[in-house]
Amino acid sequence: MELKDKSSIPNHVAIIMDGNGRWAKQKGFDRIYGHSNGVESVRESIKAAREFNIKYLTLYAFSTENWNRPKEEIAALMDLLVSTILAEIAELSENDVQLRTIGNLELLPENCKNTLKEAVEKTASNKGLTLVLALSYSSRWEITNAVQSIVKKGYKHNEITEELVSSYLNTAGIPEPELLIRTSGEQRISNFLLWQIAYTEFYFTEVHWPDFNRDEFIKAILEYQNRERRFGKISEQINA
Ligand code: IPE
Ligand code: IPE
Ligand code: MG
Repeated sequence: MELKDKSSIPNHVAIIMDGNGRWAKQKGFDRIYGHSNGVESVRESIKAAREFNIKYLTLYAFSTENWNRPKEEIAALMDLLVSTILAEIAELSENDVQLRTIGNLELLPENCKNTLKEAVEKTASNKGLTLVLALSYSSRWEITNAVQSIVKKGYKHNEITEELVSSYLNTAGIPEPELLIRTSGEQRISNFLLWQIAYTEFYFTEVHWPDFNRDEFIKAILEYQNRERRFGKISEQINA
């Protein structure tokens, strides 16, 4: 499969990587096996994003609500995060990928925080692709946090603009995603980027995350390229 039309590639793609647990269960394995296999899909997606010249790729890796999972699963996910970053950091750098995180990192175990911090610092000057990892992230947490900071700074009510609010979100400086992909057939947002997806195109696929690959990524972009983004206007205005 190839992407022929290079003119309307999304600048920012966000992905809700879902279905690892079900993928593993269907194969008779435990959920953790699904998470480990999801890493390869992450690798492929980053590679594909670089190839398609996508500039921002945001991956929802762990939500605030995921802290309510069994503690063994949480521990396995945290270990996987550390081992993956340690294994991939050199290649990320080689491929000009800058790593950024959004979410409440304070809740992460110490070794995770340190590994992430180091990887973010090491890749800070890379310009090819910004890889945004959403970790211990929820949109309501992010927005509540922003409101608290804005109030603390003493802004007057008439100084509160959409731009100001955006600049207090974790995603400050990151353009809004044009395309949001969710795998595994679930059609919900699960507290992800609520503010930022006001005009994002949604793409849902039945494929579980460990089966997501370059071809699946291309399918999502092809579907995106067939959408008419009107931003409240009418079709004739868009085509004029
Ligand atoms: C997504 O897969 C990964 C995380 C949320 C960490 P799930 O673990 O949610 O897999 P399912 O949805 O239970 O199949
Ligand atoms: C959303 O997936 C969070 C991530 C992909 C990290 P979940 O599997 O946790 O979402 P729900 O609970 O099914 O909505
Ligand atoms: Mg899930």
